[in-house]
Amino acid sequence: MAKFKLILLGAGRVGTAFLEILARKRKILEEKYNLEYELVGISDLKYGSILDNDGIPINKILKTIREKGRFIDNTSSKEDIDNITLIKSSDSNLLIETTWSNIKDGEPALTHILSSIRLGKHVVTTNKGPFAVAYKKIIDEAKKHNVFVRFEGTVLSGTPVISLARECLAGCEIIEIQGILNGTTNYILTRMEEGISFNEALREAQKLGYAETDPSSDIDGWDAAAKAVILANSIMNGNLTINDVFREGIRNISTRYIQENIEKGRRTKLLANIIKEGKKIYVEVKPRDLPISHPLSSVMGPTNAVTFKTDHLNRVTIIGPGAGPIEAAQALVMDMITINNYLEWR
Ligand SMILES: NC(=O)c1ccc[n+]([C@@H]2O[C@H](COP(=O)([O-])OP(=O)(O)OC[C@H]3O[C@@H](n4cnc5c(N)ncnc54)[C@H](OP(=O)(O)O)[C@@H]3O)[C@@H](O)[C@H]2O)c1
Repeated sequence: MAKFKLILLGAGRVGTAFLEILARKRKILEEKYNLEYELVGISDLKYGSILDNDGIPINKILKTIREKGRFIDNTSSKEDIDNITLIKSSDSNLLIETTWSNIKDGEPALTHILSSIRLGKHVVTTNKGPFAVAYKKIIDEAKKHNVFVRFEGTVLSGTPVISLARECLAGCEIIEIQGILNGTTNYILTRMEEGISFNEALREAQKLGYAETDPSSDIDGWDAAAKAVILANSIMNGNLTINDVFREGIRNISTRYIQENIEKGRRTKLLANIIKEGKKIYVEVKPRDLPISHPLSSVMGPTNAVTFKTDHLNRVTIIGPGAGPIEAAQALVMDMITINNYLEWR
């Protein structure tokens, strides 16, 4: 039976939701999935860091984050060590990476992930930055060092789009992928259809916590482009980076344009389109006017969806939440269970 010794980097919304699941579901995860784990290291810019190879009680960590805003250490542990030392000097065999997503150069997560891989430690993450800029490098290193790297939560959060394509659709050729990959823009377009302006809809999305304070990542299509690259690389065996994506956001779309489209039986969506032609893969993210009858037209609000066009099954669509801490944490748990299964089948 595999026993995971975990390091968690980044104890923000997703990291703490993950710890809460591990604390709450320990018994069921062990009984149903044979999943055993203990936390041996944790680090967050706000709360400090702890390394304790004898195990750090997860409930205690959650309590001290809530009550003291800082990890409390026991006397035998070292505090505030840097992330790379934490990875190197711990007995961990699995890194959970949930620091912030940087789609310019993937850092600091890229270094965390590569350092773990090179030490023979498996990696599970929701962080899209490293995979949008250095997918091939990460996968090549993982193969070289014989470790598993899983990143389901990088696209559509806990809605299992990557696993669906790679595992459940195995044997099908996936010819085209179309997706609504960003919940903020889909929410804004939905509200504009109901009559409010772009700026009002954006302010609403920010108030509801969907949009970032700097909304460019969402409304200029960067976030969707990063996710589209991950889909193209992981599902179609591509070697693309975010710079290969043709990208256009929704800044210049008016409420009037959206409403006139509806009258003509069409709905405007920020769509990622990934097409494979021979060995070439083309990726674009841009607003598209879809017929109302299109399966992605009915996806409203912050919900996300992806349609795979395949040779054996024609079109397969998955719809679900594309964000949220508990949803992303679910992806981390699912990836951990999958790695555990692989290790047990070896
Ligand atoms: N939230 C979602 O709905 C969602 C869904 C899918 C995927 N994701 C991805 O999951 C990751 C985490 O998201 P989140 O919502 O939990 O973000 P978050 O609440 O901002 O948490 C990230 C945490 O990482 C910490 N951090 C940043 N750099 C660090 C470093 N070098 N070492 C240690 N800790 C560091 C941050 O500290 P400071 O705050 O002090 O900087 C913060 O506490 C991101 O990559 C995000 O893109 C999020």
